[in-house]
Amino acid sequence: MTEPLENKKIVLGVSGSISCYKSIDLASRLVKAGALVDVVLSDAAQEFITPLAFQSITHRNVISNLFEYSSENPLEHITLAREADVIVLAPATANSIAKLANGFADNAISAICMATTAPILIAPAMDGNMYHNKAVQKNIDLLIEHGVHFVGPNAGRLASGLIGLGRLVEPEIITEHIKIVLGLTGDLKGMQIVVSAGGTQEAIDPVRVITNRSSGKMGYAIAEAARDRGGEVTLVTASSLPEPPGIKCLHVMSVAEMREAVLDSCNGADALIMAAAVSDYRPAEIANQKIKKKKGEENNISLDLVKNDDFFLEVPSGVMRIGFAAETEDLLSNAEIKLNSKGLSFIAANDVTQPDSGFNVDTNRVTLIDNNGKVEALPLLSKYEVGNSILDKMLQMSK
Ligand SMILES: Cc1cc2nc3c(=O)[nH]c(=O)nc-3n(C[C@H](O)[C@H](O)[C@H](O)COP(=O)(O)O)c2cc1C
Repeated sequence: MTEPLENKKIVLGVSGSISCYKSIDLASRLVKAGALVDVVLSDAAQEFITPLAFQSITHRNVISNLFEYSSENPLEHITLAREADVIVLAPATANSIAKLANGFADNAISAICMATTAPILIAPAMDGNMYHNKAVQKNIDLLIEHGVHFVGPNAGRLASGLIGLGRLVEPEIITEHIKIVLGLTGDLKGMQIVVSAGGTQEAIDPVRVITNRSSGKMGYAIAEAARDRGGEVTLVTASSLPEPPGIKCLHVMSVAEMREAVLDSCNGADALIMAAAVSDYRPAEIANQKIKKKKGEENNISLDLVKNDDFFLEVPSGVMRIGFAAETEDLLSNAEIKLNSKGLSFIAANDVTQPDSGFNVDTNRVTLIDNNGKVEALPLLSKYEVGNSILDKMLQMSK
């Protein structure tokens, strides 16, 4: 499977808000992600921004007037409405939201929205009082009732200088929500998937911990891939990476906290994918105060460590268990030992000695080994693609 926006047909409607400039960034992100972006501008939007700006980024026609068509096809708006995978209205003004809620079709954006069966995602942007206006709220409720998706608005400093709710959500977050909307009918729809990520931290004293080099990127990529295929995802994370939208995130530090959060989340789940690097040992005692440097001749101190229990074995048997083995030697044999001792369905063996795979990079190279003895070496892939390969195998093995 490729990246989620690759070759997706996205109609981006831009209406007349001061935040129009942000939709240039949005269009650019979508194009970079491989989407085919058709921009439709309202008349008011063109008071803020020109069709040329968008055309230069999308390299496609921009619809700026329903009746002045630039292509051969005077019914271009109907073609776009029919072929779109998703329609995104960002920024959406109070006026455009009102048109959509009440069935108006008097400009290109509203006509396309009326004529489509594709999902619609709206990112409102307006002054705080405008947003709280009863008519606006009623229109939003009506659209939600009709199955239209919303992202935002955010709270913050508005163009008027007032602080309030009404800011357009940042383009990178809108992009994530487009993926979520596109994935709603994906092949993981109805499945509950728990993913763990990051390196656990075991306290030595109030300021020091034992941890490892795991960044959490692999677990986050799996969680995002599962979300983008319609899965309901819980991410138990010991990483400080930003929370991905559309994913329930539970933050933990120690193995004991991770155990509790994972076992709780596994109730009713279909699968657990443990991408976290879980500490095998923890200090036997946690010092109440910061351990001070010894004075005089005494150079060495020692730390007693005790083994952490392996909670994989406590996961209910109905939950498919998938693990990771980050190894620096004897990759396959070490991974097989882990596969069998933890009762996993399959394991991703990960050679972390290579600069392009393993910790804190965006690519990875893993070998999937299952409990039937099948071994599949994957090439170097983005972590998102590795996530999708793991999810493909999870689906195959759950049939
Ligand atoms: C400087 C300026 C900024 C505006 N910003 C917004 C805005 O952020 N949100 C909004 O709903 N309307 C805003 N408006 C009002 C809309 O542009 C106006 O309601 C227009 O009719 C919207 O048309 P459209 O929905 O077809 O784009 C703004 C108007 C001006 C003059």
